[in-house]
Amino acid sequence: MEYNRSGEEGEKISELGIGCYALSGVYGDVDKDRFKATLSYARELGMNYFDTAAAYGDVAEKILGEVVKPQREELILSTKIGLSPKDGSPPLSFENVKASCERSLERLQTDHIDIYFVHFDDPQTEVTETVAALDELKEDGKIRHYGVSHLPIKSVEEYLKEGDVTFCMTELSAAARESRKRQLPLCRKHGAEVIAFSVTGRGILTSRFDGTERFEKNDIRSMDPMFKKERLRSNLRIRDELKELGEKYDKTPVQVAINWVLSQKGVISALTGPSSKEHLEENAGGSGWNLERDDLNRLESFLEKEDDILEKREKEIIEEVLNNEPSEGVEEAFNDLVYVMEVSSSRGIVDEREIEPVFRKLFSLRKKGDLKSSNIKEIRQRLKEIIPT
Ligand SMILES: NC(=O)c1ccc[n+]([C@@H]2O[C@H](COP(=O)([O-])OP(=O)(O)OC[C@H]3O[C@@H](n4cnc5c(N)ncnc54)[C@H](OP(=O)(O)O)[C@@H]3O)[C@@H](O)[C@H]2O)c1
Repeated sequence: MEYNRSGEEGEKISELGIGCYALSGVYGDVDKDRFKATLSYARELGMNYFDTAAAYGDVAEKILGEVVKPQREELILSTKIGLSPKDGSPPLSFENVKASCERSLERLQTDHIDIYFVHFDDPQTEVTETVAALDELKEDGKIRHYGVSHLPIKSVEEYLKEGDVTFCMTELSAAARESRKRQLPLCRKHGAEVIAFSVTGRGILTSRFDGTERFEKNDIRSMDPMFKKERLRSNLRIRDELKELGEKYDKTPVQVAINWVLSQKGVISALTGPSSKEHLEENAGGSGWNLERDDLNRLESFLEKEDDILEKREKEIIEEVLNNEPSEGVEEAFNDLVYVMEVSSSRGIVDEREIEPVFRKLFSLRKKGDLKSSNIKEIRQRLKEIIPT
């Protein structure tokens, strides 16, 4: 395992880190003991960076706390501010940020968090208020650094301007490259280091899938655009290209995929989250070597061609979904709308903040078991109004 120097003198962070998202059940049912054993195995592989979040459920912080406790001072631990409190107050208010941190410290059984991330947007709270809470937590020694995670780009920029942001966490893999356009340059401009997440593309860049898989309903990949339509086809072509490149280095496609992420300017660590030791061991082989410049260029040309194909085809898909009758099955029609929303916001066709309430509405209907064709049509109509086609 290689370690990149972080901005702070003497501190090192492993190129590959492990995260606990899977403990939330996002990738379907998870065996907690098996996941815990995989977290421990990460230490044996030389990894010193561990990530979790309050939103992954109490158990995720508790399990990680138990794993890191014996070697706490040697490890870098990050977690994220919790979601909306039950009293309905704004989640990123001064008081809530501080209270959320105390709860995480307790669950993690530690007296400090190395990197504390803002996990989501809160339009009700001024960024300066949240930053004031984070600064105070830093002064009190409860957190060592803070960062921003999966927020709309405009919010990321505000935090970078207003706060002492050391790290930005963003999705980046050969299957999800959008952050290279705006987020990575922005972080570099403000001197924040980038931690990339879902670097295996939630498994799509491994040898595991052939495109015929059917995911369980409780697995997010059952609706993830990365596993649907043109994106799925493109991602499998990319995986095959990584496979071919890897033969020269005796590396698997996912090892090449991870190495490519680490080659991106500003990226200090790549986060993966497998539940199996074998998968983690394979992923660790993505660190400790470098793709040659010629091969990086070859991959870049390949990805550019894929970008062109995708851009053209995805615009057509957006038009098809918005202008034709919804798919027969409600679940399929739901997935089509998710695809359109995800793609149009990640491509900057529509402002993320504009699409966010529609996203929330669609998911709350599904959660309530209230998805029916009249609702689908209503949401499709709203999307037609805000997405230029
Ligand atoms: N800030 C945010 O908003 C945000 C969002 C997402 C993630 N994150 C952080 O980043 C971490 C990593 O993201 P992620 O969990 O999505 O990572 P990931 O490693 O890209 O995806 C995990 C999934 O891919 C599969 N997988 C991984 N390596 C594999 C391999 N070598 N062969 C076959 N399958 C493999 C795993 O399967 P198995 O379980 O079968 O091994 C699991 O289903 C998270 O745990 C979390 O800490 C942050």
